[in-house]
Amino acid sequence: MSAKAPPATAPMQGGGFYNRHSSLQAANLGSALPLLVVAAGEVAVDGAAIGIADYGASQGRNSMAPMAAAIDAVRARTGPDKPVVVSHIDLPSNDFASLFTLLDEDPISYLLGRPEVYPVAIGRSHYGRVLPRGSVDLGWSSNALHWMSRNPCTVPDHGWGVFSADPAVRDAVDAQLDEDWTNFLVARSHELRRGGKLICQFMGRGKDSHGFEWMAGAFWQSWVDVANSGLVTHAELARISAPSAGRSVAQIEAPFRDGRVSGLKLVDVATMPTPDPFFELYQQSGDAVQLGQTWANMMRAANGPSFAASLDAGRDHAQVLDAVTARLAARIAADPQQNRSYNVIVVVEAAD
Ligand SMILES: C[S@@+](CC[C@H](N)C(=O)[O-])C[C@H]1O[C@@H](n2cnc3c(N)ncnc32)[C@H](O)[C@@H]1O
Repeated sequence: MSAKAPPATAPMQGGGFYNRHSSLQAANLGSALPLLVVAAGEVAVDGAAIGIADYGASQGRNSMAPMAAAIDAVRARTGPDKPVVVSHIDLPSNDFASLFTLLDEDPISYLLGRPEVYPVAIGRSHYGRVLPRGSVDLGWSSNALHWMSRNPCTVPDHGWGVFSADPAVRDAVDAQLDEDWTNFLVARSHELRRGGKLICQFMGRGKDSHGFEWMAGAFWQSWVDVANSGLVTHAELARISAPSAGRSVAQIEAPFRDGRVSGLKLVDVATMPTPDPFFELYQQSGDAVQLGQTWANMMRAANGPSFAASLDAGRDHAQVLDAVTARLAARIAADPQQNRSYNVIVVVEAAD
């Protein structure tokens, strides 16, 4: 474990690439959607406008259905003209242009047929306060909270610290997950109006294994292949990693249990296996090449920028990511498998 600080968390690949390659994340959030609709049916609706916050929105494609469902559930109680402000929060370097283009031009935009809805963007980390006190009635976060605020250390032997053989690295990851989750909740306890609800879906952890081992290993091995081919150096390889990991139920409960978070009540937390729509499609089509390409594009969209951020200055990121993506696609096509990982869904309420 090296003391040298790795770069800060990077956003998803821009230019709308994440929007085009995030159907897996869309499948993941599906199990949390009914809870968002229930919450939207319960929160107070007497304010001048309903405040909805979308934490970790990225380029917006996967926010359209949840925001539409939440607005419709609120307006089933208020009538169709109740003003709604939807705040999309993400890192300053996020591709917000793709989000607003989608809102303006795409048939899936939640603005279509819904007057008096005001989308805004906030380019700040959700591990701190991003909105005024008591201004959020309904919070939502899908596929985002397993991204840590930073990589707590370098991970020489894997692309993800949680899979390192070094217990000190794994401990550092757990400590960072705990700090970030606590900071996230403390900030939300400021923003959520009393009675407001927050629904979060993100990567969980299984009882006997973390989950995601197959795909994380295949992505990392593709980087090792690229280093062995000479396109990047082994020194660069030792620096790269993604600041993401799943949380166990105990890790999610911890800040509520030990009193680090006040003003919020943990209403529900549940872990479940993730869907694998890519494998389902492969079972129908038998097309292993397509399976490989689909996974490789998704992995590039979500993890490519974080890995590439540690490359030497002046390195052509697109060239390296093209090579890694091609190797990952070939690796999966040669050995198609079903992905095994976990989702966690958390329901929180602002209480006294
Ligand atoms: C995998 S994407 C999820 C996007 C979308 N919500 C979905 O369900 O597909 C994770 C998003 O979280 C964002 N993110 C990571 N760390 C963040 C932070 N500290 N504050 C706000 N957003 C963050 C990333 O930039 C990225 O856009």
